[in-house]
Parts: sequence; structure tokens; C-alpha cells
Amino acid sequence: MQILDSLAWRYATKKFDANRFLTTEQVDTLKEAFNLTATSYGLQPLRLVVINNKELQEQLVPHSWNQRQVADASHVLVLCIENTIDTAYIESYFDRVKTIRNTPDEIIAPFKEFMINSFKDKTQEDLDTWAAKQAYIAMGNLLTVCGVERIDACPMEGFVPEKYDEVLGLEAHGISSVLVLPVGYRAEDDMFADFKKVRKTIAESILEL
Ligand SMILES: Cc1cc2nc3c(=O)[nH]c(=O)nc-3n(C[C@H](O)[C@H](O)[C@H](O)COP(=O)(O)O)c2cc1C
Repeated sequence: MQILDSLAWRYATKKFDANRFLTTEQVDTLKEAFNLTATSYGLQPLRLVVINNKELQEQLVPHSWNQRQVADASHVLVLCIENTIDTAYIESYFDRVKTIRNTPDEIIAPFKEFMINSFKDKTQEDLDTWAAKQAYIAMGNLLTVCGVERIDACPMEGFVPEKYDEVLGLEAHGISSVLVLPVGYRAEDDMFADFKKVRKTIAESILEL
């Protein structure tokens, strides 16, 4: 039941303690967890931007519906999608498979061709939607890891992606912001920490057939 305790401990932190910071080891754990997230075909159309810069964090507040969590958190994680998922991108995935697993070309070739062809038919909008879904999986994964590691976090859709992209200069890196996750320690007076969880009953939430 330990995992359920961790999931119950976690809550969407509304007020962070601006004077407490995560260790490098804790942040490294979050980076690794992000990178270990399952993604469709294993293509990882994602990048995690890690911000640990109070000035920059303060600049993000007006672009975050004035939510102070981004300024007060120890670090702000911005989950981004890759802007270009083309043939070269898919080929680079198979190059990794070859290098890491030593998989022969004749095994890789048919699957590679299938993937390149199926991605060719997708519009940019299809690709962005597909990639954004992977970002949500990564966010879920990170939230669970935060609970287990007793790192406070607030999942956030309440921000203006275009403004984040501009302020953080993400276009130059070929990525666009999709989700924000401030992480750190809850403030002692964050009253939300003591609120009971509002959830459907298991009977309402689960359909057993
Ligand atoms: C995708 C997503 C976006 C969210 N956006 C925000 C947000 O912008 N600001 C905020 O304070 N909480 C945000 N939340 C937190 C939810 O309101 C919160 O998870 C939900 O009410 C359940 O509460 P709990 O996480 O404390 O158990 C978001 C949660 C998710 C999953």
C-alpha cells in the first residue's frame, strides 16, 4: 500500500516554499524518470526544459495566469514537444536501436519503412497532437515519481505556451511548450496540503465487466 500512501501525499501544490531547493540528485531523478517514460513507438518526441533561475521564473508568472508557483518553486519543469518529426527524426531513432541493441539492418528495415510511411501521412497538427499526448504521459509519470520521492509539484496547463516559447527561446531549440510542472517543497501555510481529496468513489470510477 506504500504506493497509495505516496499518491495520497501528492497534491497540486498551490504555494511553494521559495527558500527551499531540491538537491541535484533529486532533480537528476526527475530527469531520468522523464527520459524513462514510455512513448508511442519509443520515439520520445519530447524535451524537458529545467529552469532553476529566479529571475526567469518571475518573468513566467504573468504568462502563467499569475500563478505564483512558477516563481516560488525550486525548479520549473517545462514539458515540450519536438517541432519536427520527419524521416530524419525517425531514422535517428533506428540508429539508436542499432547502436544500443546491435540490431541487424534486415530486422530494422521493414519496421523503419512502415513507420516512415505512416508518419508521412500525418499533418503537422496530427503530429503535434500525437506528441502532446506523450507529454501528458510524461507528466503523469513525473507526478508519481514526485509522490514517491516526496517532492512537491503542481501540474499546470494554466499558462500561455506561445509566451513561454518566446521568453525561453524555445523555437531556436526546435521545441514548443505543452505543460508546466513547478517542483520543490510546499509552503508550511499552503492550506491546500490539508484539504481532503475530491474523487469519485471507486464504484463510480471503475467499470468491471
Ligand atoms: C493537466 C493538468 C493541468 C492542471 N493545471 C493546473 C493549473 O494550471 N493550476 C493549478 O493550480 N492546478 C492545475 N492542475 C491541478 C488539478 O487541479 C488537480 O490535480 C486536481 O484538482 C486534483 O487535485 P490533486 O492533484 O491535489 O489531488 C492541473 C492538473 C492537470 C492534470
